Amino acid sequence: MRQSLVVGNWKMNGTRSSSELLAKSIITGLGSSSANIAVCVPYVYLFAINELIKNTPLALGAQNVADKLSGAYTGEISAVMLGEFNCKYALVGHSERRSYYGDTNESVAARFCQAQGEAIIPILCIGETLEQREQDKTFAVIDAQLSAVISLAGIEAFSKAVVAYEPVWAIGTGKTATDDEAQEVHHYIRQYVAAKDQAIADRIQILYGGSVKPNNAGGLFAMPDIDGGLIGGASLDAESFLKIYHSI
Ligand code: PGA
Repeated sequence: MRQSLVVGNWKMNGTRSSSELLAKSIITGLGSSSANIAVCVPYVYLFAINELIKNTPLALGAQNVADKLSGAYTGEISAVMLGEFNCKYALVGHSERRSYYGDTNESVAARFCQAQGEAIIPILCIGETLEQREQDKTFAVIDAQLSAVISLAGIEAFSKAVVAYEPVWAIGTGKTATDDEAQEVHHYIRQYVAAKDQAIADRIQILYGGSVKPNNAGGLFAMPDIDGGLIGGASLDAESFLKIYHSI
């Protein structure tokens, strides 16, 4: 039985005080649920949010991690640095990083390995653009995104990783994949991993991301291969985020 996971991705939003307020409101509303929950916050708020979540079920994540260990890489943040703030998770390969900041399948694979080197669980984000979907390239894109990581890290590395399927056309657009469309790709991802290691495929958490809201989360999370969600916009409002969490 896989444990569910709901992760908020705050992206480049908020201020220190609004972020602290958001984290506090989430913690207050957590109640009891068997699902895991985390928030991926801007780097500069890791310290403040880490102070607030100590001894609570809310876990902390970063939105990216450097593809190098350390050195002359101006503007980058290493996995060692993230580890100092108790980051349990780091997103790697988010589509906004891939499309606006030049992340490639290869650099994403290197980030994935750097995170794991510090025992941070990478949340590997993959997904196709609208154009790729319309050209029937969805599965080819997924293959390329997964295989780059598997060839660098090895399939065993997926026993300590999370995959997030986020169709690019559904991110921040209000267009969600239907439950069946999402399930089809989640199933494909699990089969892809299963072809290399069945036990890892059975255990790996595969999250759906892309305009998840309180009104569509329940249907998505009920699908057999969807183990939770990566939530952008709706994670900026404690009430919506908690509703999504409780709909698992
Ligand atoms: P969204 O973002 O929920 O605002 O579509 C999801 C994501 O980018 O992770």
